[in-house]
Amino acid sequence: MGLREWRDHTVEYNRYEATPYEALDLLFKHYKIEKTDQVVDFGCGRGRVVFYIHNRFQVPVTGIEVNELTYEEALQNKARYRQRAQHIKAPIRFEFGLAEHYQVRPEDNVFYFFNPFSAKTFNKVVKNIVRSAQEVERTMDIILYYPLPKFKMIMQQNTPFRLINKVRMPRAKDKAEKFLIYRYP
Ligand SMILES: C[S@@+](CC[C@H](N)C(=O)[O-])C[C@H]1O[C@@H](n2cnc3c(N)ncnc32)[C@H](O)[C@@H]1O
Repeated sequence: MGLREWRDHTVEYNRYEATPYEALDLLFKHYKIEKTDQVVDFGCGRGRVVFYIHNRFQVPVTGIEVNELTYEEALQNKARYRQRAQHIKAPIRFEFGLAEHYQVRPEDNVFYFFNPFSAKTFNKVVKNIVRSAQEVERTMDIILYYPLPKFKMIMQQNTPFRLINKVRMPRAKDKAEKFLIYRYP
């Protein structure tokens, strides 16, 4: 819950705000996570998306977070969540650090972004994802929530991913309240 601004209002790294639960419920009415999927949330905050996916689909999920305090809160949330979800064997991993430094694992294949950072950083992260796809060929999806025009342009112009679905929040006044789902190859 809640928001967290960076103290110096950096333009590179955006503030913390969680994806609303109703948006996640809607997304997963239209998008299926398979048993073999492995998900990464770039800029995971306190872990809402990580716990939601882990709990609902029981697949391995990794969250990357660069704000130290937020990362610590994600770990505390994990400890509490794990007491209730011992029966789910799939791992949850939180990694502290910059999304652009994350080493994409050969098993990672679903990548989630809720407007975490600048387009420049997004471009670097997406390059790492594409490189990993070329090294270990597999189907991969990128999910953007609240996609900004620059992010869409990067997906279109700088990557081999193609748009396969749009999930719009019904009655949303803000046109950006939607998910875009891209697939490779
Ligand atoms: C808008 S929140 C999204 C939280 C979560 N993904 C969700 O949807 O509920 C973005 C998060 O990205 C983190 N962040 C910003 N820049 C980052 C970077 N370069 N690497 C990792 N995390 C970053 C922020 O600290 C913030 O917690």
